[in-house]
Amino acid sequence: MVANMETVGYVVRPIASEAELKKVIEINMVTLPEHYPYFFWYEHFELWKDIFLVALVGENIVGYNMCRIEYGLGHVRRGIVKQGHVVSIAVLPEFRRRGIATALMVNAMNAMKDKHGAGEVYLEVRVSNEPAIRLYEKLGFRKVKILKKYYLDGEDAYLMAREL
Ligand code: ACO
Ligand code: ZN
Repeated sequence: MVANMETVGYVVRPIASEAELKKVIEINMVTLPEHYPYFFWYEHFELWKDIFLVALVGENIVGYNMCRIEYGLGHVRRGIVKQGHVVSIAVLPEFRRRGIATALMVNAMNAMKDKHGAGEVYLEVRVSNEPAIRLYEKLGFRKVKILKKYYLDGEDAYLMAREL
């Protein structure tokens, strides 16, 4: 689960404390337009710690991936399936293009599958968010459908998913 990437100098591991949760929220505030009430963050921290991951460079949190587990109609599998849902992922600008988001995604997907028995993983992403869409496609996600006016400002989302 823990990826210790000495060569590029970062570590990915589950979130460990409420103090770390506060750092994660600070990163969300400066990297994404989608923010959430504290209880929503805390719920994920409490219920799905092993798929709520942080990336550290030295002592500092530089990225996070907050996920949850749901049951729903499959996006890539048939019938009702256990699904991992990537709710929010971000890496601070000065630490991008080092593979940190890839490590956050791969570790979360492995835990979704191995610890929770999830059969697929899905997420929503702005249709204009090229970097994120490329990241997900590189990881084997496919665009499943467009969710019209998904965001508060009226932008559409792609729902992207892959099997686990
Ligand atoms: N332009 C084009 N392709 C990119 C870019 C970019 N700016 N950034 C990443 N990619 C693609 C590339 O294929 C890259 O591989 P490469 O570097 O070998 O070419 C691949 O993604 C993997 O990149 P990583 O280094 O693992 O990704 P990074 O750590 O830079 O983080 C992220 C990517 C999370 C999208 C980052 O840019 C970010 O925090 N953006 C703002 C927040 C955001 O948009 N989050 C996703 C919202 S959707 C959701 O949360 C479900
Ligand atoms: Zn979502």
